[in-house]
Amino acid sequence: MLIRQKPDIAASEITPRHLFEGRRDFIRAAGVGIALASATGAGILLRPAPALAGTKLPALRRSPLSATEAANSQADITSYNNFYEFGTGKEDPGQNAHTLRTRPWTLAIEGEVKHAKVYDLDELLKLAPLEERIYRLRCVEGWSMVIPWAGYPLSELIRRAEPTGRAHFVEFISAADPEQMPGVRRPVLEWPYAEGLRLDEAMHPLALLTLGLYGEVLPNQNGAPVRVTLPWKYGFKSAKSLVKIRLVERQPRTTWSSAAPREYGFYSNVNPQVDHPRWSQARERRIGELGKRATLPFNGYADQVAALYTGMDLRANF
Ligand code: MTE
Repeated sequence: MLIRQKPDIAASEITPRHLFEGRRDFIRAAGVGIALASATGAGILLRPAPALAGTKLPALRRSPLSATEAANSQADITSYNNFYEFGTGKEDPGQNAHTLRTRPWTLAIEGEVKHAKVYDLDELLKLAPLEERIYRLRCVEGWSMVIPWAGYPLSELIRRAEPTGRAHFVEFISAADPEQMPGVRRPVLEWPYAEGLRLDEAMHPLALLTLGLYGEVLPNQNGAPVRVTLPWKYGFKSAKSLVKIRLVERQPRTTWSSAAPREYGFYSNVNPQVDHPRWSQARERRIGELGKRATLPFNGYADQVAALYTGMDLRANF
């Protein structure tokens, strides 16, 4: 992205597994699982925990929309991250994001909708059946991973809000609390982190409201407690730790395209034929692999999503 990164390092070399394993054990011992208890109607009253990361989700059906290639390890996915609210280094989110309090948490859906609503995390967890979706993630910087997310289509949430005839775009707003997020104390980006989609993109079945990873509640560094994942777009479109989803009439301002409009477009569909002004997008390095592989149009999801862009000049609308 804008800020130069250190050369890629295998994620597993960065954060010793015992660090996050240790945190997970602590959380389990604290008796979390409240979300799941209430989801099953058990109604057990437990003290709010600082984080839920590590809580097992109920058995998940694997979505047929899943990629068939092998997923990256949990260690890779949780220790090699972009989450500038916790620092600009790849290892910073894994080391710093434990300060994020993910409970209580609310996500508001508002704007051009008939039924604006503020959802509590427990409500979100049981809004629709969670399923496992194994998605390729291609970062605009040239690396990729395969990640087993858990969630349900974003359309489930949007549909319930009933967009009005004036709703043409969807804006995603991340949390931005300098107390809990050390990166927000520095003006490296405009805070809060904001992203956007056209409404038809947001309603596409691949657009996932994401609440879990590897069969567990989402780890903080991966955008707990709720984020979106949009596998056909560069990773920065998939905003983390969401507090607001707003249906709007006009194309919203987005963080990276405001910071560097020539480098990061509103659409940001993965496109090996359109280079970033400072580097080629033709190839990518899959974390954990040596060498590089070819990047596929729409990150390999062209069959499903290309029709969304029929008639559009994808060079102009990069
Ligand atoms: N969301 C917020 N709020 N802040 C961020 O810095 N980084 C983005 C995206 N979502 C980012 C964000 C980028 S550049 C990428 S590649 C993905 O998150 C990384 O997601 P992951 O760390 O779960 O793999």
